[in-house]
Amino acid sequence: MSHTPHRLLVTGGAGFIGANFVHYWLREHPDARVVVLDALTYAGNRANLDPVRHHPGLRFVHGDIRDTALAAALLREEALDTLVHFAAESHVDRSIQGPDAFIDTNVNGTHSLLKAARQVWLEEGRTPAHRFHHVSTDEVYGSLGPTDPAFSETTPYAPNSPYAASKAASDHLVRAYHHTYGLAVTTSNCSNNYGPYHFPEKLIPLTLVNLLDGKPAPVYGNGRNIRDWLYVEDHCRGIARVLVQGRTGETYNIGGNNEWANIDIVRHLCELIDRSFAADPALRARFPHAAPAQGQPSAGLIRFVQDRPGHDRRYAIDATRIRRELGFAPQETFATGMAKTLAWYLAHEDWWRAVMDGRYRQWVTQHYAPAGA
Ligand code: NAD
Ligand code: DAU
Repeated sequence: MSHTPHRLLVTGGAGFIGANFVHYWLREHPDARVVVLDALTYAGNRANLDPVRHHPGLRFVHGDIRDTALAAALLREEALDTLVHFAAESHVDRSIQGPDAFIDTNVNGTHSLLKAARQVWLEEGRTPAHRFHHVSTDEVYGSLGPTDPAFSETTPYAPNSPYAASKAASDHLVRAYHHTYGLAVTTSNCSNNYGPYHFPEKLIPLTLVNLLDGKPAPVYGNGRNIRDWLYVEDHCRGIARVLVQGRTGETYNIGGNNEWANIDIVRHLCELIDRSFAADPALRARFPHAAPAQGQPSAGLIRFVQDRPGHDRRYAIDATRIRRELGFAPQETFATGMAKTLAWYLAHEDWWRAVMDGRYRQWVTQHYAPAGA
């Protein structure tokens, strides 16, 4: 049964993917109401919503998804019919150093939202046509060997990091609220995203900003771990497709059919930056510490560093279901998506310098300290 979302609660809408989704949704549906609920953790940023700041349909609420009463009040007072749940602790490395926050936000936070939705949409019967969409990850399926088939929706869950385990637990709660209480839910499990507003703790933006500043590009282990990369707006399009046409109670894998070993991604970024400097001499003055500003190739900054504990070897998504059932396919190739991404980081130096604040620098110092330091 199709669903027509009119009035949305978007949790985590000031984060990387959530903000891209809000931009996309308000562009495609200028009459929509979108209420963003975000706690503005280190990864959340009001500035991520700047492009839609003056949109009359947007309301920003600074709050925590674990506050069930707040979520219920928003659903009620705004007569919201759709909840798109992005809010999460999302960084695997941080989950290894401090798993508690991941259980609190990803498990308890998701359960808090499910309780609010159940109360308002089912028990108070305010919005018979409702939809709770849960944004999840391919990491719940564990790790693939080099020749294993890609993850499908029927691949058994085998999460390996505290982050992945917390997302798996949240997926199961969403499923249970559908089967037990009849909440109209959908879930999507997506592969690695990249694009504008990507927080520079993650591989692609970290590599970009480090290379521009002439700092080392750290590659874990031997760099042969593989990820399946999707341009963030394609992910948003996929979520929109599931929201409207997805079968309730169903899960949909979203991916780019675009597997890359980490070292090849990093080398590719080095080449893109070197080419950009060659094509635009003004970049030398803007980024004087970058290797190509000093006549050196960026690849000289690649450093192999200590591996991530329990580092999953390979992720790959089989996106047959969303393609066949909902007619979804990514619009960007990796070449066009990466070109847009690099152009965005070059044009938004203020954004990435601002998010690399004291807390950010503290994380980087602690996380990339040499073993035994
Ligand atoms: P992000 O870390 O960039 O953003 C998370 C957002 O959630 C931030 O704005 C943060 O302030 C907010 N938040 C955190 N805890 C909160 C709380 N308790 N209450 C309210 N808001 C809170 O994450 P992202 O990369 O944009 O990921 C968004 C979602 O997509 C997550 O659920 C993640 O698991 C999933 N996902 C991410 C990727 C990826 O490649 N980044 C891939 C697949 C799925
Ligand atoms: O697969 C989807 C997941 O992708 C999402 O659920 C997560 O929220 C998102 O953060 C991402 O997780 P990864 O762990 O794959 O992303 P990250 O950018 O942290 O790392 C990508 C790969 O690069 C991974 O194999 C680890 C490696 N890496 C990462 C960093 C930060 C490095 O080699 N060096 C680094 O400095």
